Amino acid sequence: MKGVFITLEGIEGSGKTTQVQFLKSRLENLKYRVLATREPGGSRIAEIIRKILLDDNNREISPMTELLLYEAARAQHVDEVIRPALESGAVVISDRFVDSTTAYQGAGRSIDIETVQVLHRIATRDVWPDMTIVLDVPVKEGLTRIGKCGKPDRIEQEPESFHEKVRKSFIELSQKEPNRVKIVDGCKSPPVIAEDIFNLIKPLLSPANLSGE
Ligand SMILES: Nc1ncnc2c1ncn2[C@@H]1O[C@H](COP(=O)(O)OP(=O)(O)OP(=O)(O)O)[C@@H](O)[C@H]1O
Ligand SMILES: [Mg+2]
Repeated sequence: MKGVFITLEGIEGSGKTTQVQFLKSRLENLKYRVLATREPGGSRIAEIIRKILLDDNNREISPMTELLLYEAARAQHVDEVIRPALESGAVVISDRFVDSTTAYQGAGRSIDIETVQVLHRIATRDVWPDMTIVLDVPVKEGLTRIGKCGKPDRIEQEPESFHEKVRKSFIELSQKEPNRVKIVDGCKSPPVIAEDIFNLIKPLLSPANLSGE
């Protein structure tokens, strides 16, 4: 596929959404065609599933239901939004993707990794990130940051020990797949982090990704 697929990952409050915006603006200023999207969600049906997943009234969702709903939302998001954009040559930036499911439902909820990986393959088929940036911050730092922005959702309300497992899982993913998954220090200032991310993704860009305007 002509496009480039970049995903941003990390625990709650690690700065993913902030950095998606920085990267999108920078690439657009350079005249690249950019699609910024997010998970769970990113398409109408997937956003409906997102509401079910994050609603703090839905505490009885079982780990397997949770996993299947994330993957169902992803299947719709990939088919409707991500794959067509990559086929058209865009740079697609997703705020969370498969690695969040590995970290939260695999490590966090203790679902075996083979099951998680089989479902990733079913939901994404041939669509896989070219590069994944993990913003790494201590759990306390991330939770303090989001504590300042209103009511926590169902996942954010999990205990610190859950978020520690998630953080560790992201670091393990970067050790298993060092060419794809890059750890970036999320404690620096946002513009400095943006520069670190841009330098990592720059080699992936090609003239085929320009908007042609
Ligand atoms: N590098 C940074 N240093 C300090 N504060 C930051 C930094 N990056 C983002 N923030 C602030 O931390 C809060 C969370 O940032 P952001 O929403 O980008 O994180 P997130 O990873 O998308 O969080 P969530 O998991 O809740 O979606 C925001 O108030 C944001 O302004
Ligand atoms: Mg966010």
